[in-house]
Order: sequence, then structure tokens, then C-alpha cells
Amino acid sequence: MDLTLTSTKTLHNGVEMPRFGLGVFKMKNRDEALAAMAAAIDHGYPAIDTAAIYENEREVGEAVRASSKKREDLFITSKVWNSEQGYDETLRAFEASLERLGFDYLDLYLTHWPVPGKFEETYRAIERLYDEKLIRATGVSNHHEHHLERLLAKANIKPMVNQIELHPQLTQEPLRAFCAKEDIAITSWSPLARGRLLGEDALTEIAAKYGKTTAQVVIRWHLQSDLIVIPKSVKPERIQENAGVYDFSLTAEDMKQIDSLNQDWRSGSNPDDLK
Ligand SMILES: NC(=O)c1ccc[n+]([C@@H]2O[C@H](COP(=O)([O-])OP(=O)(O)OC[C@H]3O[C@@H](n4cnc5c(N)ncnc54)[C@H](OP(=O)(O)O)[C@@H]3O)[C@@H](O)[C@H]2O)c1
Repeated sequence: MDLTLTSTKTLHNGVEMPRFGLGVFKMKNRDEALAAMAAAIDHGYPAIDTAAIYENEREVGEAVRASSKKREDLFITSKVWNSEQGYDETLRAFEASLERLGFDYLDLYLTHWPVPGKFEETYRAIERLYDEKLIRATGVSNHHEHHLERLLAKANIKPMVNQIELHPQLTQEPLRAFCAKEDIAITSWSPLARGRLLGEDALTEIAAKYGKTTAQVVIRWHLQSDLIVIPKSVKPERIQENAGVYDFSLTAEDMKQIDSLNQDWRSGSNPDDLK
């Protein structure tokens, strides 16, 4: 498998989405956020995943403008927060995000969570943003199969991406199979289970075999599983480490062993518990 830092996944509308990027949740400290984003862009990260609720869209915009990269060389995702969902509200929330970012378009815009009674209208607004060419791809986050089925029944434009919690302790096989059948790409959030699984014996053993860290093994597992992966770190050395996953390959046996760590364990909420 010839994966590189700039490998992409072709979304069903033909847009090439980077397979790897920096997640920026819990980067509220301005200087820390700017330094982390600058380090990532310097190391060649091709994408940044933010959200209105992360309160760092301004920093994302600044980091991109301060870098040597052109806007169009970076793939930027943001998300509409739960309290701003609904058709008109989403259009307004998008405008506010764009304003904070200082961009005139986004690569991908997602419904952050499927708020009951709202998520279908939210997605309808995202379709309009796509029609108006303000976003290059539409998507959702934290949508189970039953949420997607409700959207698919009405959608003019099938979501291109579903961003869900996914890591070796929550492998989400049935939802992955459903999304593969519908040609919806999956981005793994909390790909390292927020650090919880990095001490697992099975991972330590595999990591030792390749002279890699357990974080690198887990990120490689996501990539070899055909997932898009957005690990977060504020530490420049970890930002570099997390991108150092292109000089080794996991065997089919390693992959199976990592798959078997699944416990259906969530670090975040189950989308069905959302009120
Ligand atoms: N759509 C959603 O609802 C949703 C929800 C959650 C997250 N996300 C997205 O997914 C991204 C990633 O998820 P996440 O931030 O929850 O968790 P994560 O990427 O699984 O883990 C981040 C944690 O692991 C630590 N870490 C990072 N690299 C490491 C390494 N090489 N060795 C040891 N520890 C390491 C980080 O600490 P330091 O920062 O101190 O290095 C941080 O505490 C988010 O930033 C966000 O963009 C989306």
C-alpha cells in the first residue's frame, strides 16, 4: 500500500480529501493553538479539522494565512454546533464560521451531532451551501445508520463524509460497512481514544517490532483500514511523531490483532443519547 502524507480519498463527488490531518479540539489557548497549527502545516499536514464549538476558527484562519501554503493547498473542515441547528440557523452559523476563519469557502462542512428534530433541516442547509459553491463537500458527524437512512431518504446530495468516534476499542464495523455501501467516507475522531489505549500490550508489542510508538501504530491502523484520520496534539514533537507513519506497514496479522481490541467503548457520547 503506497500511502503518503498527502494521500487522498476520492469523495463520491470527485473531491480529493486528505487521508490525514490535524484535529484541533481542546486547543482554546490562542498561542498554543497557533503554534500547534503552524507546526502541523510546516510538517506537511494537508488538513485541519475544526468546529465552531472549539472556539479556534480564528486561529485556523490565521495559521493558514501565516503559513507558506496557499489556502487551496489545505483542506479545512468545520461543523455546525447543536444549538445552531435548523435550516436558517445553519446558514447563519456557516456565515459566522466563514467570517471567523476569514475564508470565502470551506472544503467540508458537517452537522456536528444529529440533534433530534433538527438534523435533517441542518443537512438541507448544508446541501444549499454546496449548491452555492460555498463548500466543496457535504457531510455529517456522529450519525448512526438510522440517522443516515433518514437523510438518504430525502437528500438531493448524499453526504460525502461521516465523521465518527472510531479507534481500536470502538471499531464500528457495521456502520463502516453501511457507509462503504453508500460511498460515504469515514473520518475517525478520537483516533487515539484520547490516549487511553496507547499502553495496550498488543500495541506495545507491535510498536516494538517496527521501532515505532503505539500512537504511530494506531494511526497506521486507521490509514490501512481505509479511514481518514485526524489525531490531535498541541505538542510539536507529537505532531511530528503522529505524521511519521509512512515508512512502515502493518501486516494482515497485525491488523487483525488490532481489530480484536474492540470493546465498543466510547470516549465520548453515544449519538442516540442526544436530547
Ligand atoms: N465530530 C466530533 O464530535 C468530534 C469529537 C471529538 C473529536 N473530534 C475531532 O477529532 C480530533 C481528534 O480527537 P481527540 O482530540 O478527541 O482525540 P485523539 O486525537 O484521539 O487524542 C488526543 C489526545 O492524545 C494525546 N496525544 C496525541 N498524540 C499523542 C502521541 N503521539 N502520544 C501520546 N499522546 C498523544 C493528546 O495530548 P497532547 O495534545 O497533550 O499531545 C490528546 O490528549 C479532534 O481534535 C477533533 O478535531 C470530533
